Amino acid sequence: MRIIVTEDYNAMSRQAANILSAQIVAKPDCTLGLATGSSPIGTYKVLIERYEQGDLDFSNVKSINLDEYVGLSGEHDQSYRYFMNHNLFNHVNINPENTNVPNGLAEDTDAECLRYNKVIEELGPIDTQVLGLGHDGHIGFNEPADHFPLLTHKVDLEDVTIEANARFFASKDEVPKQALTMGIGTIMQAKQVVMVVSGKDKAEIVKKAFTGPVTPEVPASILQMHPNFILVGDKAALSLL
Ligand code: F6R
Repeated sequence: MRIIVTEDYNAMSRQAANILSAQIVAKPDCTLGLATGSSPIGTYKVLIERYEQGDLDFSNVKSINLDEYVGLSGEHDQSYRYFMNHNLFNHVNINPENTNVPNGLAEDTDAECLRYNKVIEELGPIDTQVLGLGHDGHIGFNEPADHFPLLTHKVDLEDVTIEANARFFASKDEVPKQALTMGIGTIMQAKQVVMVVSGKDKAEIVKKAFTGPVTPEVPASILQMHPNFILVGDKAALSLL
């Protein structure tokens, strides 16, 4: 595990974007695993800037997103498909057909999970996986559990996660209660994993996940065992390490 400490969120974003840029330059047809949430927005902004400057070409890049809320269409402004389109895909020359996000409106969620696993099998293993970190240690929407789920599956979201995400909805009641998420087995198979963390409110869980025992009760703790894991965090988030 490698740790990169930065001054603030913007510096964190530039460092994470450096790693992703290097990946895209070194392997123009790479498969990126992508995350949503507030942590990687700055990273995506820097990638867009580098694309606009002519330094990055996404035309052969493929992407597989971590997760999606059950019940939200890609047009819903809180869906993760919408997030990705607006925070990255619409601003670079990635082929929309090469971008993958679970279908939150699938009637048969089990079939959707199987379909997504097939996509991962075809495009994977992921070259670089981007992750954020939930306050309860979740990665993707893999919440604390008694085991590490391997493949894409449906999850009931924890209250703490629903509360954390309520800020994006009109009220807590509107936050979907379930999501489809890539499994931890798939994340661990990525050749490289980059986690972005920022802010004092993440310091406790960063400490627990990366200095505590490896346990499915803190899903991110498994990353201690990944052979190529890079934690990019600002001073505040890493202050208790
Ligand atoms: C998002 C995702 C989540 C977030 C996590 C942290 O696709 O998979 O695990 O990374 O909830 O969210 P932020 O970055 O908003 O603190």
